[in-house]
Amino acid sequence: MKEFKRTLITTALPYANGPVHIGHLAGVYVPADIYARYLRLRGQEVVMIGGSDEHGVPITIKAKNEGITPQDVVDRYHNIIKESFQQLGITFDVYSRTTSKIHAETASEFFRHLYDKGEFIEKTSMQLYDEQANQFLADRYVTGECPHCHASGAYGDQCEKCGTSLNATDLINPKSAITGNTPVLRETKHWYLPLDRWQGELEKWILEGHKEWKTNVYGQCKSWLDLGLQPRAVSRDLDWGVPVPVEGAEGKVLYVWFDAPIGYISNTKELLPDSWEKYWKDPESRIINFIGKDNIVFHCIVFPSMLMAYGDGYQLPDNVPANEFMNLEGDKISTSRNWAIWLHEYLVDFPGKQDVLRYVLTANAPETKDNDFTWRDFQSRNNSELVAVLGNFVNRAIVLTHKYFDGKVPAAGELLDVDNTAIAEIREAAKAISENLDTFHFREALKQAMEIARIGNRYLQETEPWKLAKTDMARVNTILNVALQICANIAVAFEPFLPFMSEKLCKMLDMNKLAWDQLGRFDLIAAGTQLGAAELLFEKIEDETIQAQLDRLARIKEENKCKAWQPEPQAEPVDFDTFLKVDIRVGRVLECERVPKADKLLKFLIDDGMGTRTIVSGIAKYYEPEQLVGKQICFIANFPPRKLKGVESQGMILSAENPDGSLTVVQPEGDLAPGSKIV
Ligand code: MF3
Ligand code: ZN
Repeated sequence: MKEFKRTLITTALPYANGPVHIGHLAGVYVPADIYARYLRLRGQEVVMIGGSDEHGVPITIKAKNEGITPQDVVDRYHNIIKESFQQLGITFDVYSRTTSKIHAETASEFFRHLYDKGEFIEKTSMQLYDEQANQFLADRYVTGECPHCHASGAYGDQCEKCGTSLNATDLINPKSAITGNTPVLRETKHWYLPLDRWQGELEKWILEGHKEWKTNVYGQCKSWLDLGLQPRAVSRDLDWGVPVPVEGAEGKVLYVWFDAPIGYISNTKELLPDSWEKYWKDPESRIINFIGKDNIVFHCIVFPSMLMAYGDGYQLPDNVPANEFMNLEGDKISTSRNWAIWLHEYLVDFPGKQDVLRYVLTANAPETKDNDFTWRDFQSRNNSELVAVLGNFVNRAIVLTHKYFDGKVPAAGELLDVDNTAIAEIREAAKAISENLDTFHFREALKQAMEIARIGNRYLQETEPWKLAKTDMARVNTILNVALQICANIAVAFEPFLPFMSEKLCKMLDMNKLAWDQLGRFDLIAAGTQLGAAELLFEKIEDETIQAQLDRLARIKEENKCKAWQPEPQAEPVDFDTFLKVDIRVGRVLECERVPKADKLLKFLIDDGMGTRTIVSGIAKYYEPEQLVGKQICFIANFPPRKLKGVESQGMILSAENPDGSLTVVQPEGDLAPGSKIV
């Protein structure tokens, strides 16, 4: 592998139209942070770049819906995102934003340079225009009937009913989402980056030069390249974004996917105003882009074409270790449907448990395929791995040292086979961690780090120092010395993954500087060192805590069902005579009770005006029996009697079905005479 002098780590800039969630973290920020911390521990020159992506149409739609400005929207979320990243221990060297001045200047200059070099083509096309709002309509601002499945309310870029991707001009009977008016077609001019000009270079660079990339990334690039690249528009008719710096381009801004990756450059400039170029242009530097799979084409095809078109020594990324998606309890994470675990809320609900989240998201990282986050898995990984394996080992080693040596690290004597075996195994694991981190296999690297704790537990189990304490104190010295050196190895190996734990452990072990080359060494803590008090590194997570999270998700699922609810389509026509055959009456409930062994059924005694009758109704889940006693109801009087769970029912009580599927009994208003006919 080629050696590099320094590394620029970039992380996809999250859209500031919502907070960040576990999908973002698992896909991008946790692995990037692990990698950055690892390189720093190895003493390498590294910077990690992040920032909020604050342009694009969804932000303007959100602003419009809430009656605030786009700037208000991005201010709100930028602050939440930045703060929550910091609390999770994501160590950005700079976390900036694409509404900054330096970014506007950098993106604008970038466009202008390409423009002056003749790297764009200009094209006019017909787009939908809202004459009342005086603006062109972005795809998401147009709704209409889907030309394929004829569902109403399809968006200009996609029909959510049948999933077909659309052009806004294909919609039947299109309407502007701003004014509700029918838009007209109007000619507009845009700048296109002819990606086809870079096809050959890209093929050489990726398909021949980067066979080592992850197969999901390489595969996606190959299929794009095999299809043949087309020019792509890099400007939009919109009033939110970086203005197109060309005369006659009033009302046009850079397309969000043109300016956002330039954010990596502006952020590096912001961090290193005088030396940023060495990270972008020195062949001894390398760039690594951490992203999710939906960003692959922009990072491997579009942005590289922009950089090649710019020239001036800009280098292409050395690797783009994109991840697949993390789902939540079996369903795709969705910001608009609130189907997510939001980082800022997790930090409130689970104070001090940053490392648990980092652990679970890494252990289950969607590196090669989509994965699922479940709260049960979260709980069990905490309880049976972090508490029972890692925390338990460290705690035993430190507690025993306090017990036998008042917390003073004993000196090791001669090593026996059992000691040497444990040491050799740990060196093996240490090597595997490095190899896996070097190749972006973070899950496997974490597994190998955990292996150190497992070896430690096994070692204590085999040597049983608590038994030897009565007979062979010299052996106990050695065993606990080795065990504490294993703890020190844990502090180093886990620093990239679980930095909060590592810091706490360092305090207990009185270690003050970590470096990756300490791994595999067994002289990390000197004999005689006074240990701190044994504190628990992790604590058990109880069922109630998990249940509360599951309840929250269940509530969200219900809300979403109601939001998506539409009344059933109207039934087939029926004539009046047929309707009249159904005898619907008003009755009054005299008695009501549950039907034994039938959890859905209530048994009513009804005053029907002529006498009384029994009716059984399947609404026991929605009412307590006494709630309905004395109430007026409507019932069908002329159904033939039928038996339900052994009770004869002489009619049917009318209920309305709610969006969530529950039933509400229809109760007439006023004081009606039992037996009144409903006509
Ligand atoms: N905001 C984009 C997303 O969330 C990512 C932008 S990455 C950058 O999908 F390269 F454009 F910065
Ligand atoms: Zn459709």
